[in-house]
Amino acid sequence: MTTAVPFPVQQPIGFEWLGDEPPFDADRHLQLEHPVERFVLQDLGYEADEISTKATDFAVSAPFRVLSDEGAAVMLQVGRKLREFHRPAGERIEQVVRGGCYRSRWLRDLCIDPTLTAHLSAIFGVAVAPHPMALHLGHLNYEPSSIDVAVDKWHHDTLPLDFVMMVTDPAQLSGGQFEWFHGSRHEAAELARRGERPPADRTVAPVFPGAGWAIALHGDMVVHRGAGLNEPGERITMVNGYVAADTSSDEQSRTVDLIGVDDPEVLYTEWAKFSAWRGAGRLQSVIDDLGFNADALAVADRLEDAIADVQQAIDQMRAGRSGRQMHYEHDNE
Ligand SMILES: [Fe+2]
Repeated sequence: MTTAVPFPVQQPIGFEWLGDEPPFDADRHLQLEHPVERFVLQDLGYEADEISTKATDFAVSAPFRVLSDEGAAVMLQVGRKLREFHRPAGERIEQVVRGGCYRSRWLRDLCIDPTLTAHLSAIFGVAVAPHPMALHLGHLNYEPSSIDVAVDKWHHDTLPLDFVMMVTDPAQLSGGQFEWFHGSRHEAAELARRGERPPADRTVAPVFPGAGWAIALHGDMVVHRGAGLNEPGERITMVNGYVAADTSSDEQSRTVDLIGVDDPEVLYTEWAKFSAWRGAGRLQSVIDDLGFNADALAVADRLEDAIADVQQAIDQMRAGRSGRQMHYEHDNE
């Protein structure tokens, strides 16, 4: 399965297609290669009980090629054209474009391409589908307006799985490297409580040979950031989100954190469809697997568990904004 929720046929209000784009052509624009190295959650210090509820034990990969030279050139053009739609993503990162797949047909068709999805399934070690929320497809990060701040604070993602791809050539930049912490979220949180950040000797900054290269990431589990630039320069990265096709494992998204960040016109409908897809899959497993059982409470628990993601979405939508965005840097503390 390469689709969880089909990409919406209709565009949300306020989104227009870019003109003069080439059509996406997988044969010409993709150049898929496998990473030479892949880390698992155990390598980062996670315990078996935490790993067992996740769809995959995959943590993070070495860089691998996604786009051909021609594909990387189109991606850069698209990234530059979409820059005008940038907005802040809460307090964590200054300039992002979300919902770019509702503006660029090329970006949309890249992000939902079945060959690319199958390639990522192989790297993640589990069958995946493009994230049911199109806002999580083709997410673009841009350099901040000042070189005094990190491109993105140390954080883990609001979604389970993704790849982070260089849109600009990192060799043209001084600083601005993508970094991940060789440790768990718990360790990063403990460091943050002490007012510290991941130490350099436990930080990995993979070398990307060029634009169109990416790393695959268990974004919900691996703490990472875009480091600050030493000199001003154009830095664009693209993040494409995925979910495990099997709905039986943890959902691993913090969609509530997108309230106040994403366009409400888009967010709530996508969130509802995402939750409905999760609920549908988990309810189907009740139909398929539930054996005869006289224990009413146990059966009720199973049924409740099947709709937990739906109930949570309902509760969080009704409650509105709750909490602050999760990251591991509290400059005022
Ligand atoms: Fe991230």
